[in-house]
Amino acid sequence: MSTALQHSREREVFQKKPGYRFPPGFQRNLLWFALRKFRPANPIFLFQHLADTYGDIAHYKLGHHHIVFLNHPDYIREVLVAQNDNFIKERTVQRTKMLLGEGMITSEGSIHRAQRMTAQPAFHRQRIAQYASVIVEETVRMRESWRAGEQRDISADMMHLTLNVVARTLFATDLREEVCELAAAINRIMGLYNFLVMLPLAEWLVHVRPPGLAAFVRARNRIDAVVFRMIDAHLRKRRDEGSLLDMMLAASPVDNPESRQALRDQVITIFLAGYETVANALSWTWYLLSQNAQCEEKFHAEVDSVPGRSVPTVEDVPRLRYTENVIAESLRLYPPAWAMGRYARNDFALGDYFLPARTTVLISQFVTHRDPRFFRDPLRFDPDRFSPEEKVRRKKFTYFPFGAGTRQCIGESFAWMEGVLILATLAQKWKLQLVPGHRVEPQPLITLRPKYGMLMRLNER
Ligand code: HEM
Repeated sequence: MSTALQHSREREVFQKKPGYRFPPGFQRNLLWFALRKFRPANPIFLFQHLADTYGDIAHYKLGHHHIVFLNHPDYIREVLVAQNDNFIKERTVQRTKMLLGEGMITSEGSIHRAQRMTAQPAFHRQRIAQYASVIVEETVRMRESWRAGEQRDISADMMHLTLNVVARTLFATDLREEVCELAAAINRIMGLYNFLVMLPLAEWLVHVRPPGLAAFVRARNRIDAVVFRMIDAHLRKRRDEGSLLDMMLAASPVDNPESRQALRDQVITIFLAGYETVANALSWTWYLLSQNAQCEEKFHAEVDSVPGRSVPTVEDVPRLRYTENVIAESLRLYPPAWAMGRYARNDFALGDYFLPARTTVLISQFVTHRDPRFFRDPLRFDPDRFSPEEKVRRKKFTYFPFGAGTRQCIGESFAWMEGVLILATLAQKWKLQLVPGHRVEPQPLITLRPKYGMLMRLNER
């Protein structure tokens, strides 16, 4: 049977309800399909299969629920930008409310707008420039603690480093003592993430606490304790130093348990969004550099020539162009935010299709960034794809590691600066080599983590 014919038969199955026109896709309900064919724990296989089989847009059902998967820039633009008002965050994001509460990632409408406006000044360009010296100071502290020849899990190191950076820059708090405790509690939650997302009635079960969820609640309590200690320390000092936490406190003073909880939700959201993503981006970047000797040499040459013997500063960032391209290419191949989802409020049209309200729309940076139609020889690591000429040539919405539209990442400029400064500062002294035989596999949790960590050997340069 030709693929086109097969698609049209499959489509007929879904055209039962008059008026709706569904894209091609699975005939059978995904619950059946997932059990037969895919490891449900890795949705990237499913997304890749949908893209390979059905192309730009695919449809399937999970129970009574309609889901469409998009893999074309025009459709992606429609949902994230043009028709953005018709969409809210989908169920798995809603599920993260169990940890994040009502912060900027999970909130909608007027609450979201107010939270975004409050936080915005902390992410302005001039403001971010002031964070540079703290970023470099924390990185120097780490690079001086490393020893030549030792093998380290670089992904754990990057997590600790970026946690400290977010705490000090945005929340004016030195977490030094608590960073390991916090990272361990967050790791515990990440380990439970797939289980939490799949579990029916998880929000309700949290109160009953079966074994897996008891571990979740314990880890969340540990994170909350650190966050509340931070908030209380700020309240005691009674002095506005202009940190993000001060801005949040000024916008909504803490005078009752509900406002205290609301502040906790906002703080924890920025914390998690701001450190996990950057840490993973850096871990994947070190890995990719270690596998591509020529790019690594070019990167080292740039790092050596621009800042000279002293540590890099904010003025050096625009000159570290190749370093920035290395990060951009790493975000293409291993995007920390590997997928995004939306939920339709009303019926909507996408190209030739007409879909019902309550449809879930899924988009995967991981899949679109590796599509040969948009990136030639897509699995090759090539930072020169991000030269100014190539950038101009590229179609919009084929590369979107920071999302797009009104929910685009608020921390994007922060992340670029932090990434460039951390890479350059560490590479002035160290060359990182993957420990032979170490298994490297991406694990799509809330962010794309290296499943077995990133064991690397430190060689002094
Ligand atoms: C490489 C690093 C990063 C990546 C790849 C990344 C990616 C993303 C993406 C894709 C979204 C949009 C999600 C959606 O539309 O569903 C997002 C939103 C967000 N990011 Fe980032 N991010 C990074 C760094 C940061 C940093 C450093 C911060 C803060 C310090 C941050 C804070 C946020 C927040 C608060 C949102 C929610 C924005 C909103 O909904 O209005 N991110 N990020």
